Amino acid sequence: MTAILEVRGLSRQFRSGGLLRPSRLHAVDDVTFALRPGRITALAGESGSGKSTVARLLLRLLTPSSGEVLFAGRNVARDRRRRDVLRYRKHVQMIFQDPFGSLNPAKTVRAHLERPLRIHGIAGRRDAKARVDTLLETVGLVPVASIADKYPHELSGGQRQRVAIARALAANPKVVIADEPISMLDVSIRIGILNLMRDLKELEIAFLYVTHDLASARYVADDILVMYAGQIVEQGPVDEVLANPLHPYTRLLIASVPDGERNLEPIEIRKGTAAAAVDPAPGCRFVDRCPLAIAVCRQTTPELVEAEPGRIARCHVTAPRQREDVHAQPAA
Ligand SMILES: Nc1ncnc2c1ncn2[C@@H]1O[C@H](COP(=O)(O)OP(=O)(O)OP(=O)(O)O)[C@@H](O)[C@H]1O
Ligand code: SF4
Ligand SMILES: [Mg+2]
Repeated sequence: MTAILEVRGLSRQFRSGGLLRPSRLHAVDDVTFALRPGRITALAGESGSGKSTVARLLLRLLTPSSGEVLFAGRNVARDRRRRDVLRYRKHVQMIFQDPFGSLNPAKTVRAHLERPLRIHGIAGRRDAKARVDTLLETVGLVPVASIADKYPHELSGGQRQRVAIARALAANPKVVIADEPISMLDVSIRIGILNLMRDLKELEIAFLYVTHDLASARYVADDILVMYAGQIVEQGPVDEVLANPLHPYTRLLIASVPDGERNLEPIEIRKGTAAAAVDPAPGCRFVDRCPLAIAVCRQTTPELVEAEPGRIARCHVTAPRQREDVHAQPAA
């Protein structure tokens, strides 16, 4: 299916270090992927790998240092006019990690849901009530009458996250970005929110599910992008990637998940460096932690390579580049 949102070569750097030793953090570096209607794409990686920065770039809360964000084929990355940004945000909505922090304690559930309907001109005063009722039903907050006039503090954590999801859906978005939407919820109610996300695929929404939890990614997502130190290191269908990971970092992530079903040799975790994205030198950013590293890994940055159909990884050893250049060489 055609992509609704395409990200091409997206990069964002931040100044880091002090005045005496200024440096640049390559928080997101040359990230390319596409989101398709009716599919959930997980964006996974450990803390600080750049996942939320990608989310904020897609939402136009940050401007990229370089690269493109194509929505329905148009590059929105450098839109500045308020009207253009507002129009884009109607289509690309966000669900935050903390449902309590993202809701206004002084507003009822109904008021939260009516606001985007008004801002985006979706429903007038008369239709708004019916539209709010439908949204609450869609996210499983029933009976509607018992929820709509409540304030956030009168709801459970799971109910609050459902309100946040209903608010994201109010504008009939084409893309929803959920940044760790279950990590602050009780374990017992997480599955309900994941099931809701799966149900919402029927609305033909393209989801980006940001998480550091591979088990939930496997449960909910169709595809997965694995990030390390600002770069995508592996991408592909989630079942295939998690059953047979190509990149040593993905293997390490899976090995750290307590799951008896995995069928992988454990990979020893070596002492790493959190600074791999600060003024990165040529070479692989994972080299100091990688048990498979060879000499070239310190000299040349690996590129993303399609190692198998639909399976892409950035690794000199497990996803080596095809040596087309060898075939292109004229015979001596
Ligand atoms: N506005 C900013 N200014 C400077 N550095 C930033 C800024 N935003 C993020 N960073 C840095 O960029 C890197 C990536 O941060 P990001 O929040 O995207 O990581 P993450 O993968 O979402 O991590 P987590 O799992 O902890 O949420 C981190 O080192 C972070 O400190
Ligand atoms: S390129 Fe080298 S260091 Fe990087 S993941 Fe592959 S084997 Fe390990
Ligand atoms: Mg984050």
